[in-house]
Amino acid sequence: MVHASLDFAYPWWLSYGHVVLALAFGVVLAAAVYWSWRPWLRGVLVGLTLWAVAGSVVMLQFNARGVPALPTANYLRHGAGARVLDIGAGTGRSSIMVLRERPGATLVAFDEFGESFAHHFDSAGRPEDRLLANLRTAGVAGRTIIESGDMRALPFDDASFDAIVSAYAMDHIGADGARRALVEAYRVLEPGGEFLLMLVHNDVWTTIAFGPLLSHGGLRGSDWWRSEVAAAGFDVIEEGTRLGTLFFLLEKDGNGSGAPRLGLSGVPWG
Ligand SMILES: C[S@@+](CC[C@H](N)C(=O)[O-])C[C@H]1O[C@@H](n2cnc3c(N)ncnc32)[C@H](O)[C@@H]1O
Repeated sequence: MVHASLDFAYPWWLSYGHVVLALAFGVVLAAAVYWSWRPWLRGVLVGLTLWAVAGSVVMLQFNARGVPALPTANYLRHGAGARVLDIGAGTGRSSIMVLRERPGATLVAFDEFGESFAHHFDSAGRPEDRLLANLRTAGVAGRTIIESGDMRALPFDDASFDAIVSAYAMDHIGADGARRALVEAYRVLEPGGEFLLMLVHNDVWTTIAFGPLLSHGGLRGSDWWRSEVAAAGFDVIEEGTRLGTLFFLLEKDGNGSGAPRLGLSGVPWG
């Protein structure tokens, strides 16, 4: 029997580019040592090899080609039967992460399927087809609905989801876009609902490995996100990092006291 495998369609170099470079630099370094090339040249090669090895570790750990584990066991710990919204679902990596680990949940995989999608994924045909194929392969298509639209103006009623996940998506749309998306996430979440927000972490290792290439959100770090999620009305239940990832487990205040304090333009109210 032939088993289809998951294909998230991220470019190969994202996972293996540094490995190829590490091998290439390592071979040249070995030649430099064997034939006693000039010391400064050997120094440069040692630096390049170490850089490529560090990048390989970061990206293999990031595991863009596989399904990551939930970064916190506390997300939807008691969420049997939860209706979850994945904002910026892409080719399904974050949706499958949640649906596999929370077997009672159903999920709306939401994405714009536009320019940003085409920029990130090597996927032929309709963008939704790759997402659907992965959901089927993972055996979770029956618990998922695919919807398209802009996360800055979600096409859902207030309080229509028990939980939200968004992985490496809100850091792709600029500061004002991220503020609007957070306010929208707050609006469509039930009071007491949980929101797992995952972002590319601009930590020293990711910066060393990729320089500006992966620095989504520019210089926006954990302080910026902490203050913006609070401004949107969320309580931070947990915050943490994994190599390459910054995550927040957020909750919409059950008693309504955490109402958003930002207008859609990002301008504070009063
Ligand atoms: C890097 S991918 C992340 C995909 C997936 N969550 C994952 O973990 O692999 C970012 C996704 O955000 C989507 N996106 C970007 N801007 C968007 C917007 N304004 N509204 C909805 N989705 C958007 C892109 O189409 C893309 O699929």
